[in-house]
Amino acid sequence: MVSDAVAWRRHLHRHPELSFREHETARFVRETLASFGGLEIQTPTATSVVARLRGARPGRALALRADLDALPIHEASGEEFASEREGVMHACGHDGHTAMLLAVARLLAARRRDLAGEVRFVFQHAEEQPPGGASELVAAGAVDGVDAVIGCHLLSTLELGRIAVRDGCCTAGADTFAVTIQGRGGHAAFPHETVDPVLASAVAITSLQQVVSRNSPPLDSVVVSVTRVFGGTADNVIPNEVELRGTVRTFNPDVRDRTIAAMRRIFDGVSAAHGASHEFQYTKGYDPVINDPALAAIIREVAGPERIIEMDPLMAGDDFCTYLQIAPGCFFFVGAGDSSAFPHHHPEFRIDERALSIGIETLTASALRFLA
Ligand code: NI
Repeated sequence: MVSDAVAWRRHLHRHPELSFREHETARFVRETLASFGGLEIQTPTATSVVARLRGARPGRALALRADLDALPIHEASGEEFASEREGVMHACGHDGHTAMLLAVARLLAARRRDLAGEVRFVFQHAEEQPPGGASELVAAGAVDGVDAVIGCHLLSTLELGRIAVRDGCCTAGADTFAVTIQGRGGHAAFPHETVDPVLASAVAITSLQQVVSRNSPPLDSVVVSVTRVFGGTADNVIPNEVELRGTVRTFNPDVRDRTIAAMRRIFDGVSAAHGASHEFQYTKGYDPVINDPALAAIIREVAGPERIIEMDPLMAGDDFCTYLQIAPGCFFFVGAGDSSAFPHHHPEFRIDERALSIGIETLTASALRFLA
């Protein structure tokens, strides 16, 4: 027999919905929460749900966050409860996060008389699509008045039974950029009559490697990756322009600003040297998630030393960062597989469902500990 949390997770897994379109998921969450009793259920946006549990006595307020959305991936996991929606899949474990938080809400609602303060259960839409659902929830006041925020993420590549946490930087700021280098196209046989944007782009790509190796202190982590190059129409034509796109990952706002400035210098200098011009667009994505050490200490304490792993920061991003503008928080990872598992966002992604009960225990205990 499967537990309710596993049954809920499988239901959600069968019926995944993309970011900002989580209508059935939100309805399922609302109806399930309503069946527990004792919760004030709100819908701050069309596809999110927030439930407030007010304890019998006054005290601090803690928000617990889960994300609801799936990804545009065609599932190939082979699970019997695989997605019934063509091209949409819960390939990041958000179905598990939602099921876990529902179970935590039921456990804590049953203990309402013993609680001092408030637990706010935040079922957030659209984590996967920047600018993300968290910013809409914060703007709607959904976490106003909370003293702390705790969230977790299942991790298929972390051994079942482990909880990974760290103080400070946990996930990276994940930005994107695009630069169009404009030259003057022409016949490839007469290059001296053109301004060649292909050559200027090649120099720019090479020079960008110096941002990490020569402009950033060796102990600061930065990724600058050019991931897409667009240009040209024929073998014998020098094109008018070439577009480069890519991503920048950083942990520190100063490092991010320095990286942007260095990129700007490179594009300015390379364009000038080649007689070309350019347009540089930098789009800030999610900020880094910075864990509060006192809250991370609660996770360590309730999980116990046999489960805890002190993790390295991940270069991935999460919009859990947005809640940290309101209150200190901690984001931790729950092992749901092993190192041989398929990674997140893979069509064959699977989790070990035994991880759900570990996540439920850890979240419930951390809430009780915080409010005590
Ligand atoms: Ni995720």
